[in-house]
Amino acid sequence: MATPEYTPFVFLLLLFQSGVWGVPVCQTPQESPTCGYKSCHATKPGMLNVHLVPHTHDDVGWLKTVDQYFYGDRNDIQHAGVQYILDSVVDQLLKNPDRRFIYVETAFFYRWWKQQTDDMQNTVKQLVNEGRLEFVNGGWCMSDEATTHYSAVIDQMTMGLRFLNDTFGHCGRPRVAWHIDPFGHAREHASMFAQMGYDGFFFGRLDYQDRNRRMVAREQEMLWRASESLTPPMADLFTGILPNGYNPPEGFCWDQSCDDPPIRDDPDLEDYNVDDVVTRFLHIAHGQALVYKTNHIIMTMGSDFQYENANLWYKNLDKLIRYVNQMQSNGSEVNVLYSTPSCYLQELHRVNLTWPLKGDDFFPYADSAHDFWTGYFTSRPALKRYERISNSYLQTCKQLEVLGGPISRKGPFGAGDSETLKHRLNKVYHCTVCVTSLSPLSQVLVSNTLSSLSGSSAPRVYCEHLNISVCPLTETSKKFSVNVYNPLARPVSWPVRLPVNGTAYSISDAKGKAVDSQVVPVSQATAAVRRGRGYAVNELLFQVQAPPLGYSTYSVSLLQNGPPSPPSPLPRFLRVTFDRETGLLSSLSNLETQQTVKLSQNFYWYNASDGNNSESIQMSGAYIFRPNTSTPFIISKTSLYLHVFQYNSICMRPTKRSRFIPWFSPWVSQVVRLYTDSRALELEWTVGPVPIGDDLGKEVISRLDSSINSSGVFYTDSNGREVLQRRKDYRPTWNLRQSEPIAGNYYPINSRAYIKDDKDQLTVVTDRSQGGGSIQDGSLEIMLHRRLLYDDVRGVGEPLNETSDIYPEGLVVRGRHLLSLSPPAMAADTHRPLAQEVVLQPLITFTDGELHPSTRLEFSGLQAVLPPAVHLLTVSQWDQDTVLLRLEHQYQASEITHTLLSLGGDPSVWEVSLKPMEIRTFLLRVRQR
Ligand SMILES: *[C@@H]1O[C@H](CO)[C@@H](O)[C@H](O)[C@H]1NC(C)=O
Ligand SMILES: *[C@@H]1O[C@H](CO)[C@@H](O)[C@H](O)[C@H]1NC(C)=O
Ligand SMILES: *[C@@H]1O[C@H](CO)[C@@H](O)[C@H](O)[C@H]1NC(C)=O
Ligand SMILES: *[C@@H]1O[C@H](CO)[C@@H](O)[C@H](O)[C@H]1NC(C)=O
Ligand SMILES: *[C@@H]1O[C@H](CO)[C@@H](O)[C@H](O)[C@H]1NC(C)=O
Ligand SMILES: *[C@@H]1O[C@H](CO)[C@@H](O)[C@H](O)[C@H]1NC(C)=O
Ligand SMILES: [Zn+2]
Repeated sequence: MATPEYTPFVFLLLLFQSGVWGVPVCQTPQESPTCGYKSCHATKPGMLNVHLVPHTHDDVGWLKTVDQYFYGDRNDIQHAGVQYILDSVVDQLLKNPDRRFIYVETAFFYRWWKQQTDDMQNTVKQLVNEGRLEFVNGGWCMSDEATTHYSAVIDQMTMGLRFLNDTFGHCGRPRVAWHIDPFGHAREHASMFAQMGYDGFFFGRLDYQDRNRRMVAREQEMLWRASESLTPPMADLFTGILPNGYNPPEGFCWDQSCDDPPIRDDPDLEDYNVDDVVTRFLHIAHGQALVYKTNHIIMTMGSDFQYENANLWYKNLDKLIRYVNQMQSNGSEVNVLYSTPSCYLQELHRVNLTWPLKGDDFFPYADSAHDFWTGYFTSRPALKRYERISNSYLQTCKQLEVLGGPISRKGPFGAGDSETLKHRLNKVYHCTVCVTSLSPLSQVLVSNTLSSLSGSSAPRVYCEHLNISVCPLTETSKKFSVNVYNPLARPVSWPVRLPVNGTAYSISDAKGKAVDSQVVPVSQATAAVRRGRGYAVNELLFQVQAPPLGYSTYSVSLLQNGPPSPPSPLPRFLRVTFDRETGLLSSLSNLETQQTVKLSQNFYWYNASDGNNSESIQMSGAYIFRPNTSTPFIISKTSLYLHVFQYNSICMRPTKRSRFIPWFSPWVSQVVRLYTDSRALELEWTVGPVPIGDDLGKEVISRLDSSINSSGVFYTDSNGREVLQRRKDYRPTWNLRQSEPIAGNYYPINSRAYIKDDKDQLTVVTDRSQGGGSIQDGSLEIMLHRRLLYDDVRGVGEPLNETSDIYPEGLVVRGRHLLSLSPPAMAADTHRPLAQEVVLQPLITFTDGELHPSTRLEFSGLQAVLPPAVHLLTVSQWDQDTVLLRLEHQYQASEITHTLLSLGGDPSVWEVSLKPMEIRTFLLRVRQR
């Protein structure tokens, strides 16, 4: 709970509300440059207007690192150098004021901008002010939509948009969201874009059946109503599907990386081809007009890392425009112009049509009958967890920077800041890039703040491998303290498990009260997975409580020859039973609501397609999931030696342990934990090294089979926020011809999924993004790990066959699923807080030895706990004396009614009203007390 006497300051003065997201709001500029909609070229009302959009698609990390892409290093891997692109485009834009260019990825633009002279910066500002260079999207990167969490997306968008606003002001503000590469589109992304104030959204990829239908029906442009909770038009976003993904029409690629013929327009020379080019172009334009609704069409003139020598593109585009428009004097009704997505959008708006409405999302994405992009929902599971942990760590770091004030950046442990971590983290969001361990700089910041808040400068130790029971300090020390920082705005109680060698410990909390604890042996699975990184034989388990936005400190001392742990109280909320013969879960009960479901769980693997198949040669790979058969192989019964080792931290006597011997094979194991005070059953799975000696690629799943009558329906969250209903072999907006019974029923799960019937809802909270489906009624499967032997021919050019220094024969991955059972009407009250505690997890730090008696053992940054419906999404230092505060209503309209929130101790100072699913951002001036 909050301890007001420790609170160094309160958030007091509401400075101003900065739009919805702390991104620039539309302002009337002082002088009025002609950027934005005013800068668009005129179109011709009676004609077919073709909007040519010169653009480049620059992945912020894919086959090369971001910096290699920026400099054009390692062009042997992929020819790409963004610095040359920006140099060359600016140069070419200056040669002809009609020319236009859009730029998307702020991570690259920022790198380039820093290196320019004042003169060049002024020139570029001029181009931006005249609408000749326009930023679209504008986030630090173009985030993936299937595997990202909304809090991370908002952060990276804020960072990119803030840079553009700070650098270019009003004219730098993107009006259009532009996600031309992501492999399927999440409704929550559209909702976020709408709330950020974008006027429209364009993308390139969608299911081939969906696209075909939309082309015939001329429904490639629509209004996406992206929330069931927010009152329209709060989450309404005009959404357009681009005609060629993000590529130019066939035959019209004039980049140095392309082979299409240039326009040869000297009639005196050989191979004069203007007539041919014009005829081909008109043909394509007329064809495209047939599948769109208005007399405006858009063409993306560019592609991956193009425009390194922009002269090639612009010289030919200038000619194309001239020669095609010349035909107007001969009766042609086609008008070509340099344009941008926002200029195109403006013309669509002027046409004043009513667009078809879209309510669901664009998952899963298939580009052909057997080519479902549902494998990448799970691919690289360790990186996916790393991203989630890093985000949690970043949020904590930002909070501590605010709570600590200036001392956090220049404290006793040196200078650190959260910017470095932010930059590093943002690389992870698009595609996948290797990122090394957490920034030492942010550890410095955390240490500085905690030392200042606690008044103790004892060195702080971080243990990043508690997931595998490794922490040298707790293993060796006879006396140490554990500091648990809670980044949530409500008090939280967590189980903590520490590797130790002793058999009994005494633990006291911040008030000096004794805390129950239990010592249990380290599981064989953990001992195997550590690979020499630690040798602790036991785990010390106890429950910690931490106040909102604050910490609590626990002191731990080894008891010499202490008695073994006493049996602990039985769990209060759940009961679980196991089958005596198989050791498998057999039922789950909620003791509060007196409900029980039959429930079994097991591990299986799908045999990944090797392409040797009569229906299609598509292989399973990093992106594509394609099992060779719809029946997965069960993992058990042969070559078993690990056992399921189940206990409740503080509960269930482990007497029957020996009954559950052989269960999973050597490369799959699981520990089931039921904690006394938890509403969730924890399944900690460990998978790997996935064997490939049989030359079969394997896609490993955990499957729950229950007595719930789910009628072909299950539910998944979208980017960790609003939940969508999924129906087997069904899409809400078209008549699906199902061609992949498993892969075609997989959806992204970012934080939770559930099945339900009238009485029971079984929810699984995941600790990272994973793919999953419900193939049979009552069943819910989640893919954990994939190891494949073939490339899926979507660009990475290698099989998904991960190894690491520690696991050279194949990556081992460990994670957790939290299961809960509730009546459907009450379920959100359980699974939302659970998911939140996984996303914003406590930060645990250690200090060795006895703490100085003056140390402040508990601290809370809040004077009052926020109401349960309200989530404190972000607290971060905005500038010197301003703090960004982002509040969110975390329930859906169907789950709860309007909440009025007051924050800051004295309700008369400030009241904020939040509607279901609403996010609001505030900039607060902070006064240090
Ligand atoms: C945008 O930039 C202007 C200065 O160009 C600044 O006054 C304004 O506060 C910024 N807005 C936000 C939300 O950062
Ligand atoms: C227009 O048509 C006339 C007669 O066919 C032809 O001579 C002229 O070249 C055409 N102009 C263009 C721009 O194609
Ligand atoms: C747009 O269409 C609506 C009816 O669909 C009409 O009421 C309105 O006047 C039109 N606006 C313009 C500017 O044409
Ligand atoms: C803990 O005990 C194990 C087994 O006796 C031993 O191998 C290991 O070195 C011990 N660890 C420490 C830090 O003493
Ligand atoms: C997968 O990785 C293992 C371990 O590095 C290697 O021995 C094997 O050849 C790889 N297989 C493929 C198909 O890449
Ligand atoms: C344990 O956590 C570390 C640090 O986050 C991570 O790198 C590692 O992959 C995890 N280990 C397993 C087996 O998942
Ligand atoms: Zn890309």
